[in-house]
Amino acid sequence: MKIFQDIFAIRGAIKDIRHQGKSIGLVPTMGALHAGHLSLLEASTKENDVTITTIFVNPIQFNNSEDLKNYPSTYEDDITLLEKCGCNIVFAPTAKEMYPTEPVIKISFGELAETMEGAFRPGHFTGVALVVMKLFNILQPTRVYFGQKDLQQFKIIEQMVYDTSLDVELKMVPTVRERSGLALSSRNKRLSKVGKVIAAHIYQALKVAAAGIQAGNDIKASINAAKSNLQSFEAIDLEYLIVVRMKDLQSVETSYDHDQLVLCFAGYVDGIRLIDNLIINE
Ligand code: PAF
Repeated sequence: MKIFQDIFAIRGAIKDIRHQGKSIGLVPTMGALHAGHLSLLEASTKENDVTITTIFVNPIQFNNSEDLKNYPSTYEDDITLLEKCGCNIVFAPTAKEMYPTEPVIKISFGELAETMEGAFRPGHFTGVALVVMKLFNILQPTRVYFGQKDLQQFKIIEQMVYDTSLDVELKMVPTVRERSGLALSSRNKRLSKVGKVIAAHIYQALKVAAAGIQAGNDIKASINAAKSNLQSFEAIDLEYLIVVRMKDLQSVETSYDHDQLVLCFAGYVDGIRLIDNLIINE
């Protein structure tokens, strides 16, 4: 497995791979790898000749400097894990390498970014979009793998690929969960033992509400019941719990005309921000 930190060097390697007609699978990460990332890696190694994983904690997607400072980092373990799991290349640039000067352009996404994460983390998707665009330009992937847990991120990147005619295939891989149902996230590393037990209630509440909506229960009533359930835990600080249409992430509270719907959650457990979602009518 080769590790690159600078853009010039990895561009040379990409040129060679492309020249040989090989496909490139890309797994973009911010490190602190877990089994969710490994499922992306597994999909990529199955479907591509070469798999590249990026490890870069992108400072411009954090709207909160404390959150950036506290973001977990397990670089040595990540490298060992990637080597074991068949990754061919790691790209782990420094912030200076990616942003020698403060980037000027701002990519905006209209209504897609006005809800959920976009509403609660101003500027987040502008930062995500720019780094992903840079990674696409540097690494020229054939296919790119993202987790369903970050559904809004996936939709934003899908829009960017569509609007800019990028020649890349996006793949959304189902969320990997702990046995308790808790969605795997690098941020879980910061949860206490008790916090982890409480956080598992998020999935349980989502599951009950999603099953109820699928069975024909009123959407608003189902959401309110799930909210009351979660708010009964002192350690859970709910940010949003909404049902949105998969196609445009617009919120739905009443009937839904056979659109695919997703139940989305964000909130804090023990001060750690977690997100999760369930596709209701898969
Ligand atoms: O999902 C993530 O880990 C990040 O948002 C990404 C896509 C690597 C961009 O920094």
